[in-house]
Amino acid sequence: WKTLDDMALEGRRVLVRVDINVPVQDGRVTDPTRIDRVAPTVRDILARGGRPVLLAHFDRPKGERVPEMSLAPLKPALEAAFAAPVRVAEDPVGPAAEAAAEALPAGEVLLLENTRFEPGEEANDPALAQGFARLGDVYCNDAFSAAHRAHASTEGVAHLLPSCAGRLMEAELGALERALGDPERPVIAVVGGAKVSTKLDLLRNLVERVDMLVIGGGMANTFLYAAGFDVGRSLAERDMAGTAREVAARAAETGCEILLPRDVVVAEALEPHAAHETCRMEDCPEDRMILDAGPDSVAHIRQALERARTLIWNGPLGAFEVPPFDEATTACARHAAQLTRDGRLVSVAGGGDTVAALNHAGVAEAFSYVSTAGGAFLEWMEGKELPGVAALRASA
Ligand code: 3PG
Repeated sequence: WKTLDDMALEGRRVLVRVDINVPVQDGRVTDPTRIDRVAPTVRDILARGGRPVLLAHFDRPKGERVPEMSLAPLKPALEAAFAAPVRVAEDPVGPAAEAAAEALPAGEVLLLENTRFEPGEEANDPALAQGFARLGDVYCNDAFSAAHRAHASTEGVAHLLPSCAGRLMEAELGALERALGDPERPVIAVVGGAKVSTKLDLLRNLVERVDMLVIGGGMANTFLYAAGFDVGRSLAERDMAGTAREVAARAAETGCEILLPRDVVVAEALEPHAAHETCRMEDCPEDRMILDAGPDSVAHIRQALERARTLIWNGPLGAFEVPPFDEATTACARHAAQLTRDGRLVSVAGGGDTVAALNHAGVAEAFSYVSTAGGAFLEWMEGKELPGVAALRASA
């Protein structure tokens, strides 16, 4: 694909697909990370005399004009991040939006209204893609985190204008390529979260590609159950035991070492500071639930991290939102951060929960790369080509 460096921008309307689907409470942005991360692209376009016209979705209005899902309240946060005035168009497309794009002076930014107010957006309607294309001379996709959606603003329009990747898109793809495409080995993947069923494709892809695979969270319970351990009242998908055994068998064939908890922290209920104890896997009481990996498991994971040169992390190792069941996740994240600081590990993390867990551990800054993507990061880890990225490639 092309990058902004390949495009002439001076005086041109640059239609930029951004993902500013940020958390908002009472009209205020509570976490501006995604806005901050697209700011270099917008500033770069402004600095080169281009006129940025931003296409973005917000939440899931499903083709309806839902007033609470307007992008207008983001204006102050965008102006702060871009250090430039932002005009807001009342429509995502159509004559008024076209007139606003045409009238946009150099040095200012135009934000179009929520693309998902248009029913054709999610349907990738060619007529809507044409409508978007009339708003710019050049298309720049900087929304890696929405690139798993084949929508009119992420996929369709890329075929209709000279297209390129924005700075954030470049950074995301570069980091992911470094972690799974052509990584320094050994590669370790840490995969946590509640359910095996939602991450099955991901596990299947990883056992083909990584050297060590740490399985944590509720997913680990399913694997432990499949291996014959009693997991008490723990969250586990008992009907997925056969699938878990298949994944483990394939890992044995490919030489991918699977690390499961050896000891666990158990409690009667998932409540803050609930009475809890640590036990060996063999001794898990039948009336308790597993809520975190134990200290011996943490030591095992830390040793594996020390052997690795590349880490890819998605999902917490325990119920990290509820202390003290955050301990394994925090300890392993801090260890990975230290190895990264020491130049011994390239560490890449992604997914909403994962980023929250790294922030909770205070180490997100120390990782080599933290993706802004949730669903797109997972699909990429599954080995799928993302439609938004494929369209950039085809357009180039
Ligand atoms: C995200 O928040 O992961 C992206 O903005 C995509 O949103 P979606 O899941 O509603 O498509």
